[in-house]
Amino acid sequence: MEELAPAGIPNGNGHHFHHQSSLATNHRLRKPGRVSRPRARRADALASGARVSSEQVQTQQVQQTLTPTQTPCTDFDKAYFHSYAHLSIHEEMIKDRLRTETYRSAIMQHQDYIKDKVVVDVGCGTGILSIFCAQAGAKRVYAVDASDIAAQASEVVKANNLSETVIVLHGRVEDVEINEEVDVIISEWMGYMLMYESMLGSVITARDRWLKPGGLILPSIATLYMAPVTHPDRYGESIDFWRNVYGIDMSPLVPLAKQCAFEEPSVETISGENVLTWPHVVKLVDCYTVTNQELESITTKFNFQSMLRAPFHGFAFWFDVEFIGPGTFSAYSDSPPQQYSNPTIEGSQRTKRANPNKALILSTAPEDPPTHWEQTLIYFYEPIEVEQDQHIEGSVTLSQSRENCRFINIHLEYTSGGRSFVKESVLR
Ligand SMILES: C[S@@+](CC[C@H](N)C(=O)[O-])C[C@H]1O[C@@H](n2cnc3c(N)ncnc32)[C@H](O)[C@@H]1O
Repeated sequence: MEELAPAGIPNGNGHHFHHQSSLATNHRLRKPGRVSRPRARRADALASGARVSSEQVQTQQVQQTLTPTQTPCTDFDKAYFHSYAHLSIHEEMIKDRLRTETYRSAIMQHQDYIKDKVVVDVGCGTGILSIFCAQAGAKRVYAVDASDIAAQASEVVKANNLSETVIVLHGRVEDVEINEEVDVIISEWMGYMLMYESMLGSVITARDRWLKPGGLILPSIATLYMAPVTHPDRYGESIDFWRNVYGIDMSPLVPLAKQCAFEEPSVETISGENVLTWPHVVKLVDCYTVTNQELESITTKFNFQSMLRAPFHGFAFWFDVEFIGPGTFSAYSDSPPQQYSNPTIEGSQRTKRANPNKALILSTAPEDPPTHWEQTLIYFYEPIEVEQDQHIEGSVTLSQSRENCRFINIHLEYTSGGRSFVKESVLR
């Protein structure tokens, strides 16, 4: 494997690093000021401490004795839920109109199914999706959230005269009691790179605890994609900038600039023009059948063929989710229309799956309008020059971090033009 470290940054023994992985756990330098989901809001939220009135909300205490399927609520989980007590995270999500309006449209599209039915909203936040479901005619909605934002959701429900329909439960989905089966699960669980936050596990728990056979899960299908990207502007702004600063040669800072800019995965918006190849499907998740075990570690092999001659700066990851009924996915994946090859197979390259049911899709792809999820980029310290049609082969493993299962360890191996590389990073 080739050395791909920022040359010039010595490690503790005075030697240079051999791979990017050596940098992954130490000397972390965080880009300040990003307003986003818990990843960077956490510190602010912990510092501010949201004010909560707990009178209007049913608080179900975490059980002291865990059942075999329950996981303990760790300090990391508590900090995670606390971060969601900060209103700015909810504001950012709700102001993401593509996200919120696609959810509302999906609920209305399934109104015939939801009407007079029982719904559970896994992670209700401010209660917005629960209220959409009530507006669609749900008989009862259990709005569950472990964060103190649940108290605010309860106030919102009251202000909209929906207290008879929407029952706010303050507790973890893993711990609260709902004494009936539900017809519908709604949840906005997707984190950066789809898997960050690991909230899908809680949707699986809700499904296995309460969903009736044949019940509806919205969204139903999630697909994580990756593709090689070229991004000379980003490289120029972050690295080449230091070569001439007001006429001063600051190039000694270049190795540190590479470390600071490219050590961690970067959540940012790119455009379709940055993408060098068709995307590769890293993981296709069917929410009706996926298991927690399947999500602990995901490995896929890729073989891209560059459509351009360009400097290859790294890989981008993004996802989409689809809102379809139970059984529909397997029904249409069995006989895809001719123009789509291997539409449901992980590892295939594709744009969009065939969509005979006109399922709504919420996409975070670079070629689609931007969302608050943006795309997640893993940059290399040095670009690789690729020719048109040149292959980029390798594999990626995404695994839940042992340190905190809400973080993702990313192990990338790739070969191009006869050179092989490894990059390890953590989305934390
Ligand atoms: C991404 S926010 C979505 C909020 C709201 N549904 C919306 O769409 O605006 C996820 C919410 O799920 C909650 N949450 C995450 N895991 C949970 C769990 N296991 N049990 C209960 N609530 C959870 C978080 O506290 C957070 O408020």
